[in-house]
This record gives sequence, C-alpha cells and structure tokens, in this order.
Amino acid sequence: MEGLRKGSELELLVDKLVFGGRALSRLDGFVVLMDRALPGQKVHVRIVKKKANYAEAQVIRVLEPSPHQIQPACSHFGVCGGCLWQDLDYAEQLLWKHRHVTECLGGVPVELRSPIEDVTPSPVLYEYRNKMEFTFSAHRWLSADEVACTETAYDRSFALGLHVRGRFDRVFDVHDCRLESAEAMAVVDLVRRGARESGLSPYHIRTHQGVWRFVVVREAKKTGQRLVHLITAEGPGTERAVERIGRLLESHGPPVTTFVHSINRTRAHVAQGEDARVLWGAGAIEEHVGTLRFRISAQSFFQTNTLGAERLYEAVRESAGLTGTETVWDLYCGTGSIALSLASQARKVTGFELIEDAVADAYRNAALNDVENCRFFGGDLKDVLRHTPREVLGSAPDVIITDPPRSGMHPKVVKALLELAPRRIVAVSCNPSTLARDLTALAQAYTVHSVRPFDLFPHTPHIECVVRLDRK
Ligand SMILES: C[S@@+](CC[C@H](N)C(=O)[O-])C[C@H]1O[C@@H](n2cnc3c(N)ncnc32)[C@H](O)[C@@H]1O
Repeated sequence: MEGLRKGSELELLVDKLVFGGRALSRLDGFVVLMDRALPGQKVHVRIVKKKANYAEAQVIRVLEPSPHQIQPACSHFGVCGGCLWQDLDYAEQLLWKHRHVTECLGGVPVELRSPIEDVTPSPVLYEYRNKMEFTFSAHRWLSADEVACTETAYDRSFALGLHVRGRFDRVFDVHDCRLESAEAMAVVDLVRRGARESGLSPYHIRTHQGVWRFVVVREAKKTGQRLVHLITAEGPGTERAVERIGRLLESHGPPVTTFVHSINRTRAHVAQGEDARVLWGAGAIEEHVGTLRFRISAQSFFQTNTLGAERLYEAVRESAGLTGTETVWDLYCGTGSIALSLASQARKVTGFELIEDAVADAYRNAALNDVENCRFFGGDLKDVLRHTPREVLGSAPDVIITDPPRSGMHPKVVKALLELAPRRIVAVSCNPSTLARDLTALAQAYTVHSVRPFDLFPHTPHIECVVRLDRK
C-alpha cells in the first residue's frame, strides 16, 4: 500500500482474529496484522513491518473497546506468550475457534456429511493444565513496573518463567499463571529460589554456557499427585545443586510426590533430557480419565487438560462406533489413553508411539486397568508401518484412530492408511491446518461424516478436532 511504511501511525478498526490468534484489520483491502487487539476495537497503531502484501503493527492505544472485551485474570497478561485471548469473553473465543476450523477445512475437496459442530467448551476455564513447562534464562525480562521501581535492583541475568510473546530469547519470572494451580506455581517459585541460591547460572542459548535449562511441573487433577522434572545441562556441582533443590521441595511448600532430574546435552531448546534420575517417588504420577487410571512419567505425552480430555475421548468412542468385534489401531498413542478407553468395546487394540518411555507407560497403564487386549509398538510410525512384517502387526485394522502432533501425519503414514483401507478412520487433531492437509490426502477414499471441535486450551487460539471418516 502506497504511503504506508515502517513507523507510520494510524487508526484502524479490527475486523477479525486469524488462525494463530493474531488480530487482522483491512486498510482499503490491505492486511494489517497485530497482537493484543480484538474484533470491534478501534486502535491507534504503529507499523513495525511492511511487506508487499501485508504489514504488521503494534497497538499503541485502544481508542474504542470491543463489546466482548473483559478484564484478564492474570497479572502477566499482555507480556506472556501463553494466553493471547484472556481479555476476550469465553463465548466469543469459542466462536472464533469455530470460524478457524471452518476456514481451514473449507478448502478440503470433500463434502462434509454434516456441518462442523459447535465447539464443545472446556469444563473448566482456569487451572485446567496438568502440565506446564518453565524456562530458565540468562536474559530476564522486566515488567514496566519492575523497570520503574527504584527501590529494588532487579537481577536481569536470571529468570525462571515463561517466554515473552514473540521473544524466544526473553523470559519473565512468572509468579501468577491462571492456567495452573497456585500450588504448582509455589513449586516453581521454590525451584527458582533453589537454583538462584546454587550460584550456578542459567543456560545461555547463544553461548551454550550455564546449567539450569527447564522445569516441568505435572499435577494430576484427579489424584493431586505432583511431579517435578528438572532439566539441566551438564556441569560441575550440578548434581549436588539439584539434590539441594530436592531437599528444599521436600521441606517447604506444597507436596511434591516425585522429583526427576535429567540432562539435555543438546543445543535444542526443548524441555527434554536423557539419563533421567528419580530422586524420590515413583518417577511418575497417576491421573484418572473417566474410569481409567493412567501412569504418566516425566517425558510422556498426556493430554494437558484432564477434564477436557474426558470429553474428547468420549467423542472418539462415539465416532469409532465399535461393537466389540473390531481390530483397532491407535496411531500416535502416547501413553495409550485412547487405546485403553476403547479396549472394552473392541476385540483387540494396537497402539503405535515414538517415545519408548510412553510405550512402557502404555503397558503399565494397561496392567493398571486390567486391560488384556491391547499391545503397543515403539518407533517412528512411518518406519514401523512400512518395515514391520504383517504377521507381527496382526490382522488388518477395521478402525484406525490417528492423533498426530501439530505437524500432522507424515505423507508415508497417510499412504499407509490408504493402503490399509480401514472401514473407518477417526482423526484427532490439535492443528486444523495440518488436519486439512491430511484430510485432503484421504479424501480420494473417504468421506467426512462429522467434525467435532473441542476446546482444551481456553484463552489460547488452540483447538482440537475429532473427525470421523468413512470409507467410500
Ligand atoms: C498429540 S499426541 C497424542 C497422544 C495420545 N493419543 C493422547 O491422547 O494422549 C501425539 C503423540 O505422537 C507421538 N509421536 C510424534 N511423532 C511420532 C512419530 N513419528 N511416530 C510415532 N509417534 C509419534 C508423540 O510422542 C505423542 O505421544
């Protein structure tokens, strides 16, 4: 657009929220994207990036509010990269999530047998997470209040908290997160205190020096059990410092049922480690979903919204429509939660999962629930499906459940699905855009019977879908 350049200031009316959670405005048709704005607001913005077909802007002032604007519950709102939509009323969040699913699936060349259903809300809107990851950083972000405070000299070289929106290199000390319980937050405060007192430094993402990397707190909503997983680099004095943090957790604060330490020797900035050492407890917590019990260890995937997962698995069961005679495959099965929730309605269920720890948990979970008709294969699905002899995998599946990570299914997995040609596929997805890609590939052989969106992540743009596909 002519005349618009970086630094230009202007007033805009916000039109909509787009996939990913940002707000969009059109200026004579030219798209302007921004954070921290809501549809219906009139905003004063400054252009921060100008491209040929769109611009990005920073909101300087809200001139007129949105009718759906509410007071955010969290004191870190606006800085934190987590809850983008905490200032939007919940009914409106659900409407936008529905629109995003509709937009993403609108391009799929397949007739939907029924309209995309309304989004099923999360049973709870706050403190719904059973797992949160926090990052240590040598670059602490200070809030405007902290910067303005002349009485306290804040140490900017140590933080444990969450990333500032859009800044992978900046972390603020989180003291208040409404997505998890106050007890879990108190645990994070204690770990921060112990790590600071150790005199060891946080890991520096550019120099790769320093020790403290991540802490993951898991809290079972049904049993109250709590797991703390501390992930560090290697370095002199680390083990002793970790043990001191362990003692601090044991003697202060809310109960922690098990404490695990592992080491991330890679440069990858992910909250995963090797050589997991259980300092005390079982190394796992127990969570209940419906009538099933699940053992969740430090690094296994488990749906983060326990109460929401109950509704999701119920929808998977309804969509699968099992009668007790079917062979079912559960692809990307994690700790076996979907497989186990289907087991009583199937002849046999086989789960497939990359992470060996999760496979071990899945077997333990089967035993914990006296389920005898499930088995699990470890390894990368695209290889396991192609290279495992058919006699090992057993009879062809009547129904396949697939629940891939955000990146969706590997094309080789989609190809394998088409070759296996089960009578029904239930596709669970946490990313409507990769879901649309995978459905497009499956459309040659399947019709989409139903699309049911579920909100497992209130206040964020994320949305989960359960799609039932029937072979043509
Ligand atoms: C969205 S989770 C679903 C887990 C499970 N269905 C549940 O509801 O708890 C995706 C799972 O896929 C696994 N995974 C990721 N890439 C994989 C791959 N290439 N092969 C097999 N499993 C994979 C992850 O470890 C994770 O457990």
